[in-house]
Amino acid sequence: MKICCIGAGYVGGPTMAMIAKQCPDIDVHVVDLNQARIDAWNSDKLPIYEPGLDEVVAEARSRNLTFSTRVDEAIAAADIIFISVNTPTKTFGIGAGRAANLEFIEKCARQIARVATGHKIVVEKSTLPVRTAEAVKRILSSAENGATFDVLSNPEFLAEGTAVEDLLSPDRVLIGGESPVAIAALANIYATWISRDRILTTNLWSSELSKLTANAFLAQRVSSINAISALCEATGADVDEVARAIGTDSRIGPKFLKSSVGFGGSCFQKDILNLVYLCEHFGLREVAAYWEQVVSMNDYQKRRFSERIVRTMFNTVSDKKIAVWGFAFKKDTNDTRESAAMYICRDLLRERARLSIYDPRVSEKQIRADLVTACSDLQGQICESDLKLIETNVTIEKDGMSAADSSHAIVVMTEWDEFKEFDFTKIYQSMQQPAFVFDGRNLLDHKKLALLGFEIHAIGKSATV
Ligand code: NAD
Ligand code: UDX
Repeated sequence: MKICCIGAGYVGGPTMAMIAKQCPDIDVHVVDLNQARIDAWNSDKLPIYEPGLDEVVAEARSRNLTFSTRVDEAIAAADIIFISVNTPTKTFGIGAGRAANLEFIEKCARQIARVATGHKIVVEKSTLPVRTAEAVKRILSSAENGATFDVLSNPEFLAEGTAVEDLLSPDRVLIGGESPVAIAALANIYATWISRDRILTTNLWSSELSKLTANAFLAQRVSSINAISALCEATGADVDEVARAIGTDSRIGPKFLKSSVGFGGSCFQKDILNLVYLCEHFGLREVAAYWEQVVSMNDYQKRRFSERIVRTMFNTVSDKKIAVWGFAFKKDTNDTRESAAMYICRDLLRERARLSIYDPRVSEKQIRADLVTACSDLQGQICESDLKLIETNVTIEKDGMSAADSSHAIVVMTEWDEFKEFDFTKIYQSMQQPAFVFDGRNLLDHKKLALLGFEIHAIGKSATV
């Protein structure tokens, strides 16, 4: 059995590495157009940071896992072809800012149709609008060499930072399709290490829609608790206490109730906007408006946090040094896509603050590129003054202590464990007074910090002075 996966990103790389690790008899070939990314997958420094991934890749790469840019060759040889390319929000034309850009999916389908011979199973691994498989099937039906295809939907539910764990023991694997034979072929691969009762099968459209729905529900929980955090700040209730109190109700459950500066990542916003666009397309205006509110609430949460920082610091942060701890959208990943940090930094920069940013896993180049993105409009245009601010008012530090040295405030943007271990006595002494901490993750020990003299402003809590 030979598998090919088109797209060596955050999903294609780890997912295929896990299949190769668990199924030594299957040849797994992951291909991408991006040579630098493939080179990194073939090196000791993988292009993505995920706890435990180095070991999985190292074991399989020396045996049955290949990374290359030889897309045609991999398609031709494979029995099963996964499509795991990016499906970002469109930035142009009809549906700009909402609809999924399906250009890369369509290009893959056309390439498969051009190159394939015999019978292939084509698996949608990317997150797609419901009924995309219809378009994929039509394109494949124009295959030049008499090839035939079954199309399956097999969305991925891994979360970054826990990808290896999630792939090893997923809550479920979802396979949507029409051909029982094709479904069984894919299910048999997963059944090598996942129990059969966790492998769910549905029709194609349910599978495609379940992925968007799962992300919408998860993001909705975060926006719900974040909405309550605003009320907590206004009333003296504590959002962590409220979350604990409601989370012990088994009907609600404790997960995904951690209030924060706002959800980030490449999926939640994109997938909800995609869902909203779909609902509008089908004339379901009320349904679209309902889900859109999850994203609006997230924007409000980010905006509210920036405004609170400025207001608390005597209504001006101009020329003040502010330490930003964390830039990734969550801990244990180097991914910064849609990270709340980039928007908070943009807002503070536009208030003329001087930012000293530290993240243990994100490079200076990435941070600067993200700040440019955050300051740009949908078409990628950025004004001269923003560009200049990014150049002159941003320093990237190698550690959190240096970032905080002589600063007026520390802003916690990512919940990296190491931040909890810093020497806060030393940090306090090195800072301007009053020494503010804005904890966007409710990560630090606020009582301890207050005793040291810090003034703490956390999400969904009254100020601790
Ligand atoms: P990514 O941007 O990290 O990787 C996609 C890769 O596909 C890129 O390296 C790109 O160069 C490559 N590519 C694009 N077109 C190609 C082509 N024609 N031929 C060969 N390579 C091509 O994206 P990702 O985060 O891995 O996400 C992939 C899909 O999985 C998306 O639809 C996303 O919504 C979904 N998803 C992502 C996550 C996540 O945590 N990141 C989780 C579940 C689902
Ligand atoms: C998400 C889904 O969880 C996963 O199933 C899907 O396959 C891809 O999208 P991911 O974006 O990698 O995964 O991470 P996730 O853990 O869901 O966190 C998303 C964002 O929500 C992060 O910014 C995180 O910090 C935030 N979050 C999450 C909260 O603010 N509070 C929470 O309680 C949980």
